Amino acid sequence: MSALLPTIAIRELSATNEKLNLVLIYGSIREGRYCDIIANWASAQVRKHQEFALEIVDPAKLSLQPQSEQNPDLHALRTCLDRADAFIVITPEYNHGYPAPLKHLIDSVSREWQAKPLAFVSYGGVSGGLRAVEQLRQVFAELHVATMRNSVSFANAWEQFDDQGRLYAATRAEKSMEMMLAQLHWWAVALKDARRTIPYGIVAT
Ligand SMILES: Cc1cc2nc3c(=O)[nH]c(=O)nc-3n(C[C@H](O)[C@H](O)[C@H](O)COP(=O)(O)O)c2cc1C
Repeated sequence: MSALLPTIAIRELSATNEKLNLVLIYGSIREGRYCDIIANWASAQVRKHQEFALEIVDPAKLSLQPQSEQNPDLHALRTCLDRADAFIVITPEYNHGYPAPLKHLIDSVSREWQAKPLAFVSYGGVSGGLRAVEQLRQVFAELHVATMRNSVSFANAWEQFDDQGRLYAATRAEKSMEMMLAQLHWWAVALKDARRTIPYGIVAT
């Protein structure tokens, strides 16, 4: 059990020994995307915590059209998000916003997002992708998602990682990630319990 986790989480997990399904979602599908570097780093941080079972969703590998139940990729996405207890979105910033393929993925499902927590890891130029994050908070509010207050951002990201995808100055980012994961974990445990006690569909209209 990691020392970063709050008491409520320890109580819940020791009672059920149940892992939390954490789905990490890529925001970019661009050829040569930097997203791989950021997502690999974030995945490695998550894997330090045995409380999470990590799954990856990469929109570059999904064909989300047609939007019908007969589309196997859409069905797979729906199933994956449905079993999720928490999400991390890795987003770059394009023209002061978030990437269109990420929005397409978000809009492709609905109920599967509801009453679950979500955290952001962002990157870009001087803003570190924070403008994309703030816009995404509005989008996820509509989907009944609880977004985490803390996020991790990489300004001028390409100056922060070496050719092997290692951070030059790891400590600060790792500390930010730990705090964000602690918050995500707290919300994931609390909302999983709440969803079991009272199905959220009763109030999600
Ligand atoms: C179309 C486009 C628009 C961009 N606009 C911004 C921007 O508004 N702010 C910023 O900080 N970086 C911007 N960038 C730089 C990206 O954040 C940077 O290239 C990043 O690596 C993109 O992520 P990706 O390589 O994973 O697709 C833009 C890049 C592209 C391709």
